[in-house]
Amino acid sequence: MDFVALPKIELHAHLTGSISRQTLHEIWLTKSASGSTALQDPLLVIPEGKHDFNLETGSFFPLFSKYIYALLTDEPSLRRATTSVLQSFLQDGVVYLELRTTPRSTPHLSAERYISIIVDTISAFEAANPELHTRLILSIDRRHDFEKASSVLSLALSSFNNNNNNNNNNNNNHTSSSSSPSPSSPSPSESRSESPIIVGLDLCGDPTALPNGQISLFTPLFQKARAAGLGITVHFAETPSSASPAELRTLLSWRPHRLGHVIWEDEESKQEIARRKDQVCLELCLSCNVWAGMVTGGFEGHHFGGWRAVEGVKVTLGTDDVGIFGSPLSNEYRLVAQHFHLDKSQICALARESIDHIFGGEQEKERLRRIMWT
Ligand code: IMP
Ligand code: ZN
Repeated sequence: MDFVALPKIELHAHLTGSISRQTLHEIWLTKSASGSTALQDPLLVIPEGKHDFNLETGSFFPLFSKYIYALLTDEPSLRRATTSVLQSFLQDGVVYLELRTTPRSTPHLSAERYISIIVDTISAFEAANPELHTRLILSIDRRHDFEKASSVLSLALSSFNNNNNNNNNNNNNHTSSSSSPSPSSPSPSESRSESPIIVGLDLCGDPTALPNGQISLFTPLFQKARAAGLGITVHFAETPSSASPAELRTLLSWRPHRLGHVIWEDEESKQEIARRKDQVCLELCLSCNVWAGMVTGGFEGHHFGGWRAVEGVKVTLGTDDVGIFGSPLSNEYRLVAQHFHLDKSQICALARESIDHIFGGEQEKERLRRIMWT
C-alpha cells in the first residue's frame, strides 16, 4: 500500500518539534553568517539518525528551551521554519493538519506577533497549496503560571472570537459564546461558514510539572475555552508522573474533545475513558512513544493495540515531533499496518476515523469525507 499517497489527517503535531534538522541547520547557517548566534550546529546537537530523546531523563524538553527556541527568535526564521514544516506534511500526503504551538515572546517578537506570523504563514501556504488545509491550536505549557496560561487563552479567544463575529455578521449563524455547550453540542467550529485558523487549546509540556492534582490551576481557563467553542485537547499519562486517576478526573472535567498519548492509565482510568468513547478521541503517537522510552515492549507492545481492542474507542495517529523522532505520518500508518496486521480497508477506515474529531468545522469534514480513501 502507498502510505504517502493515502490522504491523511494529522491532529497531534507540535510546530517547533516538527522542524527538520536540515531546516534548523539552514536557519543556523544564516544566523551564523550574520554573527547573530553562538549556538552549535543543529546537526551536531540533534544528529541525523538519533531519535532516543527521553522525556523523563531530561534530554527532551531542554532541546526546545535551550536550543530550538534560541534559533527561532526572528520573523524570517519563524516563517522559514513554519513553511518547511507545512511543506513536509504536504509532501507526506497530509490533507488536513492541526499544528499546535506555545505562544512565546522572543528578543525580537511579542507572543502576539509570534502567533500572527505563524497564522499568516499558514494562510499564505494554503493559498499556494490548497490541497493542504491547516489549523492552529495554542498550547498551555504545564510549566506556565496562571497569568501566562491566561494570556495564551486570551490570544486564542481574541482570534477565534474575531473570526466568529465576522461570520456571525455575515450569515447570522452562530453558536453562543456565553453559555456552556451541552456534551451533545456541536463540535468546535461547527456552524461557521468559514473556519478560523486558531481552533483549539492544548495542555502540553513536561509531565513532571504540576504533580499531585495541581493541574486544576488551569481549570477555569479550559472551562472558559470550552464554553467559547474552542476545541480542547490535553496530554494525559505520557509518563507515570502525570497518570493519576485524580489528574484524569480533573482533565475530564474540562470536557476535552481529544486526549493525547494516554499511556500509563490504570484500570479505573481506562474504564473511565472507555465510558466516554463517544466524546473523546485518543491521539496516539507510536514512534515518539517508542523512541522516547515512554512505552515498553516496542511497537508490537504499543497501547495502540490495547485501545483498538476496546469497542467504540476512536483513535487518531499523530507524529508529535517528527523533527525529533523522524517518523512522518505515512510511516506511522505503515507501522500500525505492519505491527497490528491492518489491511488496506482497515487502514483507510482508521485514517477516516479522524474526520469527526477535527476542530476545523463541518465544511472541512465534508471536504475530507469526499477526498479520503474508503
Ligand atoms: P512548540 O509549542 O511549537 O514550541 O512545540 C514544542 C513544545 O511542545 C515543547 O516545548 C513541549 O512543551 C511541547 N511538547 C512537544 N512534545 C511533547 C510531548 O511529547 N509531551 C509534552 N509536551 C510536548
Ligand atoms: Zn504532544
